[in-house]
Amino acid sequence: MELLDGKKIADKVKQEIAQEVEQIKASGGKPPNLVAILVGHDGASETYVGHKEKASAQVGFNSSVLRFEDTITEEDLLAEINKINKDPEVDGFIVQMPLPKHISEQKVIEAIDPKKDVDGFHPVNVGRMVIGLPSYVSATPDGIIELFKRYNIQTAGKHCVVLGRSNIVGRPIANLLSQKGPMGDCTVTICHSRSKDIPSITRTADILIVAIGKAGFVTADMVKEGAVVVDVGITRIKSDKTKSGWKLHGDVNFDEVAPKCSYITPVPGGVGPLTIVSLLKNTLKASKREVYG
Ligand code: GUN
Repeated sequence: MELLDGKKIADKVKQEIAQEVEQIKASGGKPPNLVAILVGHDGASETYVGHKEKASAQVGFNSSVLRFEDTITEEDLLAEINKINKDPEVDGFIVQMPLPKHISEQKVIEAIDPKKDVDGFHPVNVGRMVIGLPSYVSATPDGIIELFKRYNIQTAGKHCVVLGRSNIVGRPIANLLSQKGPMGDCTVTICHSRSKDIPSITRTADILIVAIGKAGFVTADMVKEGAVVVDVGITRIKSDKTKSGWKLHGDVNFDEVAPKCSYITPVPGGVGPLTIVSLLKNTLKASKREVYG
């Protein structure tokens, strides 16, 4: 069994991005500029945006956070998004989710210029990804593909089972792995809350990707010997064994599943660190006008 060490790969990709940014600056270019919009004071969102800021600084990007109170109206937020869409200084931006209930997340996503949508949430980017055109791919699926590339995991002809059908993880990763070409060519099955006898399906998986948000859902009896297991789950559970009083749990019962795997991601330190790297990769692409020309 080998760990898919997301932290190690994330550090390596960040170094590569930092080198490229150095070259851009050395040849007189501007560093990529990423803006994060943060509405309200949700603790987890503050943490995520803080991590994004730190990672941007590490690779030499310019970045800033635009903060709004959670009393901002949908109309005003959409107007702010429109301003950033038009600001030539901004290469890419994200609107941190979740948003307050009175604001439609879908309207917000659709207001973002697809060319600056480095989260890859806009339907234009999702649609382009689905038909294999250049696009910004959302962070988690892109992070999983990056891990597979770096560990030379073979995907062609493999049966990949995806647990979960969310718009930002299950659906896009299932799509990417089924596409023709490198890091694709899988036979893909998507399981969800209405699937029958999930263990009989997961037991046929050469690659098992779990993104359902139920701590410890996947047990040893659900996994084939030699499978590659990717755990996207992060559930915070109270613990008296950690300083913070919390412990992060994945959707996979790691201790019993890991001995059966050829490769498995730990939680934390698996897919998580690569998600921020994907945002950096997309922002670099945006600054180089790589996706839309
Ligand atoms: N909230 C949780 N994950 C994400 C993400 O990847 N992007 C944004 N914008 N909000 C999030």
